[in-house]
Amino acid sequence: MRKRVTKAIFPVAGLGTRFLPATKSVPKEIMTLVDRPLVQYAIDEARAAGIKEFIFVTSRGKGALEDYFDNAPQLEQELRRKGKTELLELLRSTDMESGEIAYMRQHKPLGLGHAVWCARRLIGNEPFAVILPDDIIAAEKPCLAQMVEAFEKTPGNFVAAMEVPPEKASSYGILDIKEDMGRIVSTKGLVEKPAHGEAPSNLAVIGRYILTPKVLQMLNRKRTGAGGEIQLTDAIADARDAGEEVYGFRFEGQRFDCGSKSGYLQATVAFALARPELRDDLWAFLNDIVHAEKAAQ
Ligand code: G1P
Repeated sequence: MRKRVTKAIFPVAGLGTRFLPATKSVPKEIMTLVDRPLVQYAIDEARAAGIKEFIFVTSRGKGALEDYFDNAPQLEQELRRKGKTELLELLRSTDMESGEIAYMRQHKPLGLGHAVWCARRLIGNEPFAVILPDDIIAAEKPCLAQMVEAFEKTPGNFVAAMEVPPEKASSYGILDIKEDMGRIVSTKGLVEKPAHGEAPSNLAVIGRYILTPKVLQMLNRKRTGAGGEIQLTDAIADARDAGEEVYGFRFEGQRFDCGSKSGYLQATVAFALARPELRDDLWAFLNDIVHAEKAAQ
């Protein structure tokens, strides 16, 4: 019987230097889009895809992230006393059950591949998902659920994929395409952060993966790649070279790069506009800005 994907790794050990000084004390994954931390979007997406075990690879200074997933009995009591049932329900919807969340410490910043490898014993010999909480994907059917569906039809390794402008290719893992079948693309290789002009395509890896245990075996080699780091992309490419299929999956939805300030701001606006209670005010405000800018030109 084919194994289901029930475990997900959330690499959250990064320093978040692009958001300094905020990230001196706030883990970037706790930064909010409107009123939900980035990591909550990642958890919700994983749950919607059938994930039952949530594995966080953390590092020093991420205590606030662990606290976030604790239940808040005092707060709940207070809300109950005040009859704030809606808020109480909202809070409860973020509760994690005992034992479904695990934290693994990455003791040195050796790269994304190394972070994933740190969780190997919790994964064992089964397929698993990886979600990078920096990549937020707004979609009717959450991206990971789309990928799990594809994986159940066609076993293999899956990476979320999206076309990027050629000049941006060097910021991503890039797919070397074997056959483009539309939504699914088979690959003959992957390159992490190719030098300018050397990208084999402009189809980029986005932070959602479904991977086989073979990738963990490849990570055992601790091969360093781009930036002198142990790269997940390289281990996936190695699994492909060892005979496994690696598919790019063109997901439906809009991706925001919340690891960059501009992507984070765009996501904030998009998610706020999607909230009925905020939409009208924000829309009017944005319109005013646009008109004022145009008038000044
Ligand atoms: C990571 C991966 C890269 C991928 C990107 C997607 O890079 O290494 O392959 O394309 O996420 O966001 P990072 O953004 O951490 O440099």
